[in-house]
Amino acid sequence: MSKKIITLTRHIIEEQRNYPTATGKFTDLMNDIAFAAKLISYHTNKAGLVDILGETENVNVQGEIVKKLDQFANENMIKALDHGGHLCVMASEEEERVIPIPEKYPLGKYVILFDPLDGSSNIDANVSVGTIFSIYSRISPEGRPGTLQDCLQPGFKQVCAGYVIYGSSTMLVYTTGNGVYGFTLDPSYGEFLLSHPRMRIPKKGNIYSVNESHFDFWEQGIKNYIVYVKQNDPATSRPMNSRYIGSMVSDVHRNLLYGGVYLYPASTRSPEGKLRLGYEANPMAFIVEQAGGKASNGQQRILDVTPHELHQRTPLFIGSEEDVTMIEEFISGQRTFSR
Ligand code: AHG
Ligand code: MN
Ligand code: MN
Repeated sequence: MSKKIITLTRHIIEEQRNYPTATGKFTDLMNDIAFAAKLISYHTNKAGLVDILGETENVNVQGEIVKKLDQFANENMIKALDHGGHLCVMASEEEERVIPIPEKYPLGKYVILFDPLDGSSNIDANVSVGTIFSIYSRISPEGRPGTLQDCLQPGFKQVCAGYVIYGSSTMLVYTTGNGVYGFTLDPSYGEFLLSHPRMRIPKKGNIYSVNESHFDFWEQGIKNYIVYVKQNDPATSRPMNSRYIGSMVSDVHRNLLYGGVYLYPASTRSPEGKLRLGYEANPMAFIVEQAGGKASNGQQRILDVTPHELHQRTPLFIGSEEDVTMIEEFISGQRTFSR
């Protein structure tokens, strides 16, 4: 007998049946996200073949304006999501202010934040990039446009978070707080098919992912941790393996599958860290926690941080639970290394 094939849409519909008050709006919203993901995936895959890689506002040989892929991804996310009647406001890493729903379209009860293309500096080298999204219920009154406050909710209030990774295949991974599910895009059917049900991250990993060129600019606790993971001590499975792609979504995805930890600490050069709380840290934290892992800013659970501005940055330590806890202990000085 052939195996049951579960499409993303079927999975969401079946999951929503557990919520008797579900209106179907969420299912529609996820379908719009999946459509945007397919468009971005298609264009990412042929990025080397067409003029899409030109600078923003460059004119190609046909005299058309060509756009960088991150601009293209941003516009496609907005176009795919603005008209469905599910959202009251959007926010994107690529836009300075919140993105209102055009007046001609109905307003809905959800709020979405997204990083349209994460790891975009990698595109020209054919390295995996991704789209990250985070969905909340609105807190502003219904019937009016959503507000900045709708976009500044702490991460524990997310109703859904996900990412799409454009790699050797395209995958969509998401959670609604009921475990993590991964779907692989079947290019012949054009459908996301369930390939990774109930993803779990190992409690302890053997990979650390960090841009070590920042070493001199880190606080002492981080320096101590990085020296510690490189020491030779087979009894504690050290040295750990180093893997750093430079696309957070790809680095975290790999660590989710194999076990490991991703670090983007604060430094004297970027005292708040680099990554964005709303578009990057919160959605990945929700997913990793739902897979049994942990996400911290060094002192506090990422999902408990209340944002005060839209493009707020945060240090991020995310991955296998024991590894993240150990980093917190190095930061607090509770642990140090000895030669
Ligand atoms: P984005 O492409 O959305 O601007 O994000 C880039 C981020 C993240 O994906 C990656 O892990 C990190 O920047 C890499 O930073 P460094 O080049 O400083 O290592
Ligand atoms: Mn990013
Ligand atoms: Mn980006």
